[in-house]
Amino acid sequence: MPADRTTASRCVVRVPAKINLFLAVRGARPDGYHELTTVLQTVSVHDRVTATLVGPSERSQHPASRHRMRLELAEPDDEALPSGDANLAVRAARVLGRLAGLAALEGGASEGERDPRTLLELTKGIPVAGGMAGGSADAAAALVALNELWGCGLPRERLRDLGEEVGSDVPFCVIGGTALATGRGTSLARVLCRGQFHWVVVFDHEPLETPDVYRAWDAHCEPSEVEPDAVLQALRAEDALALGAALHNDLEPAAVALRPALADRKQALLDKGALGAVLSGSGPTLLALASDAEHARRLADDVRDLSAREPVVVSSPAGGPELKATTSSGPGHGRSS
Ligand code: C5P
Repeated sequence: MPADRTTASRCVVRVPAKINLFLAVRGARPDGYHELTTVLQTVSVHDRVTATLVGPSERSQHPASRHRMRLELAEPDDEALPSGDANLAVRAARVLGRLAGLAALEGGASEGERDPRTLLELTKGIPVAGGMAGGSADAAAALVALNELWGCGLPRERLRDLGEEVGSDVPFCVIGGTALATGRGTSLARVLCRGQFHWVVVFDHEPLETPDVYRAWDAHCEPSEVEPDAVLQALRAEDALALGAALHNDLEPAAVALRPALADRKQALLDKGALGAVLSGSGPTLLALASDAEHARRLADDVRDLSAREPVVVSSPAGGPELKATTSSGPGHGRSS
């Protein structure tokens, strides 16, 4: 029998952020969530999730030893990032691990250092707690990466459904593109979107926590009946001007109640020539729509002093999670794609 050799298989998934072009809050639900009608789209700000399988080769190839898989989240480079089970990527891994029968992911007995383990590493481009679904995007990317790494072979639709157990934005982040969502944001229907839209993303110096914004909505707002038709029509017609006028987010007054400076910042974006401006999700990030890529670059220059962090120019829609690389090493392996 050969001496233990370490085998490492790795999957890298790049995942885009999401924005809400339209978000109507219909009211609070008995389960603590809020009933929504929202139009979601991915934008070209990305995170990267790397999932690596590390362990003695003979053991990790044996199904019984795979049952004792340990899960680790690499030390994040951003200290604002939740660690351990507070991180949605870790929760997503546990949900998929349960389905794959990986008992030790549940915190069960492990044989220690020599057991195979799965290492998750997150490389952030999406702001943490910025209203762009950074945590949900990482969870979606973890599902896609681990589905490949653990050989689960589940179709995207199944991963989308699993995502619902992790968070309201995760199912959309698994699919990407453009969608109309209802319920708590997890019932999805694809939406036709022609062409590309160009945005300036204006960050805030400090995050806003989603539950706080919904609590502020409970305190200050009434259920709304506004419908997304004008947004859907603008997307179909590739009409940036109409989209700018139709952008809508019922969470805006709630976010402004917590962070009053957001109202002035939004007005400043409109004054500087944005076709429309809207809070991204539960904020505090603001989105300014431009007529094309060149206009977006000029607008970004003009609004540079609105926030401490440099604004970024992005386009939408931006597809969904993409498997960028798969690497296998150890006995009989050596594939890199
Ligand atoms: O589903 P997720 O864990 O992402 O939601 C985070 C929090 O946001 C919830 O705990 C809830 O306070 C709020 N939320 C809500 N209604 C939704 C989605 C989220 O109240 N539809």
